This record gives sequence, structure tokens and C-alpha cells, in this order.
Amino acid sequence: MSSSTSTSDRSDPSSCVDPNRREEATGDSTSPSHVRFVIALEPLLTVLSIVFDLVKVILLGVPLLFREIYSMFVPRPQKDVRGQVVLVTGGGNGLGRAMAQLLAARGCHLVLVDIDLAAAERTAEEIKQQYGVSTRAYRVDVSKYDQCHQLAASIERDGAGPVDILINNAGLIMFAFINDSDVERANSVMDVNMKSHIWMTKVFLDGMIKRKRGHIVGISSMSGMYAFPWGVVYSATKFAVSGFMASLTEQLRIQGISKSVRTTCVNPYYVTTRKDVVEFLQKPRFAPLTCDQAAREIVKGILREDIVVTVPRLFGVFTRFML
Ligand SMILES: NC(=O)c1ccc[n+]([C@@H]2O[C@H](COP(=O)([O-])OP(=O)(O)OC[C@H]3O[C@@H](n4cnc5c(N)ncnc54)[C@H](O)[C@@H]3O)[C@@H](O)[C@H]2O)c1
Repeated sequence: MSSSTSTSDRSDPSSCVDPNRREEATGDSTSPSHVRFVIALEPLLTVLSIVFDLVKVILLGVPLLFREIYSMFVPRPQKDVRGQVVLVTGGGNGLGRAMAQLLAARGCHLVLVDIDLAAAERTAEEIKQQYGVSTRAYRVDVSKYDQCHQLAASIERDGAGPVDILINNAGLIMFAFINDSDVERANSVMDVNMKSHIWMTKVFLDGMIKRKRGHIVGISSMSGMYAFPWGVVYSATKFAVSGFMASLTEQLRIQGISKSVRTTCVNPYYVTTRKDVVEFLQKPRFAPLTCDQAAREIVKGILREDIVVTVPRLFGVFTRFML
């Protein structure tokens, strides 16, 4: 058996060719000597490609770093929002409440929307007393399209609009590995964190386009930029928000209306708004932000009309290195 195989091999003209000679004849790059040569060169090529990437990071990244540092000391002008109507979802508590207060201090009228009506009413009353602007509070579950649609009708009926700046902020936090995630809770997190941005934008965007004035803000998270293994479902919803905001920005650009209707996607690091966040943060790598600190940075980014705002701001520079 073995001898007949070797006979047939020998009878095949191609098998009679010496592999080294065939390389000479055809220049075949998969010949053993060529493969050995490439394998021998591999470590050198790897080192060269790392050096090349490092040079690129330095050449592209350092100017960006200086630009960021420069703009921290010489900030771009912030737009005047006096008299504009700002709608904040989840405006009764936490970041939503803090942003509403800062915008009221700049003369904005506020529409506070929350599933927790008591908190929204309390915040609305405090803001009205403190800043003398007009405020309204509505109970809405922003994960439900019908309720978002109904909200637009209520705002029109009450003369509380039109809405100039929509801040999609309402969100649920969930710290859990995927295998420990409670299905009901995960569904609510996905509904509130993702659908609310889509439904609220769908309901309010047309009016902004008609009036040629508007600004849509999406509160995403640093965990919508980097993997967040301690909250897998939460992180997935925040990647969805960042994707939605990036696509919306492109839609407005190709429609030629990106100068009149602006977008801002906000990615905050940990903010000590909630008990469960504070309890989770045993040893964060960087100090968490207070609610006021985060809200101040976010509002500045909105008023500068930045397309992406990372809080703290310098964290964003590292992301840009990678683009
Ligand atoms: N706290 C953080 O560390 C952190 C970090 C990054 C991003 N964020 C994001 O910032 C946003 C605000 O977070 P926060 O820390 O202020 O939370 P929070 O719980 O203090 O406030 C959220 C508000 O949203 C409201 N809300 C919840 N579900 C709703 C619904 N279905 N309809 C209407 N309102 C609803 C709540 O009643 C609450 O008033 C969220 O989108 C969150 O994911 C928070």
C-alpha cells in the first residue's frame, strides 16, 4: 500500500519538483523558506508596529491634550438660554434636579417630567421660588410612547412650551452580572434607559425642526463608552443611548439642520446621587463626582453645544486618542 502511494506520487510531475527550485521558478510566497523568513521577522515587525502606533498616539494625541487643556482655561462661549424652555426627564431627583436648578439660574423656564410626581412638584416649586422662572411638573413614565405623546399635548394645552431644550436624563441604575440579573428589573432598565430617549425625541423633534431651533441632550454614561462588567445590562443600555445620539447627530447633519437643531451626548463618571451608587463605590479608581460638580460640567457642555461631553472633561481626551 505504501509503496503504491509513493509510486503514484513519483508519477505526479508536480510532486517531482524540488520545493526550493519551484520557489525559484514561480516566486511562491508560501514556500517553507519564505514562511521561515517571515516567522523569524515577526518579533521585529511587532515591535515596529508598536513603535509606529506610539508615534501616532503622540503625534495625534498630544495636540488634542493641549487643545483640551487650553479650552479648559479659555473655554468656548456658552449660548444665551434666557427665556428658553427646558424639559428635563427624571427632573425630580439627582442629576436632573441639579441641572434644572443651574438652567433656571440662567433664566430658563422648566418643565420637569418624572414618574415620581411628588419629587418633580417639590423641585418645580423650589426652583420657582428661588429663581422666579416659570415651572411645571408632570407625571410621565417616559418609557411609554403613549405617555410621551400625551405629554406633548398637555404642554401645548398648558402653554408651557414650546420646548427648546430636551434633556433625556431619566434612567435606572442596575449593578448585576448578567447571570444574576432579575428579568423584570432588566426589562425596566432597558425600557427606561433606551426607549425613553427614542420616544421623547420622536415626540419633540418635529416641533424643533419646524421652528428651526432646538437642542436634544442624551444623558448616557462612561459605561456607554467602556465595558462595565458590574452592570452588564445597564452598560448595554448606555451604549445604546450613545449609539442613538450619534445616529441622531448624523441624521440631522445629512438633513442639513444640524446648525439649528443641536445634539449633546453626555458621559458622566460615577456621581454620588444615589444610595446604591455610593454603597457600590467602595474603592473607585478615581474619586466620584458630587451631583453639583457633575451637573455644572454637563450644563457647561450643553451651553457650549458640544456634541459629546465627558465628565470629568479630561477623561474624554483619552477616548479621542483611540479614534
Ligand atoms: N449616578 C451616577 O453615577 C451616574 C453616572 C453616569 C450616568 N448616570 C445617568 O444619569 C441619569 C440620572 O441619574 P441619577 O443618578 O440622577 O439617578 P436618580 O435615580 O437620582 O434620578 C433619576 C430620576 O429618573 C426618574 N425616573 C425613573 N424612571 C422613570 C420613568 N420611567 N419615567 C420618568 N422618570 C423616571 C426617577 O424617579 C428619578 O427622579 C441616569 O440616566 C443615569 O443612568 C448616572
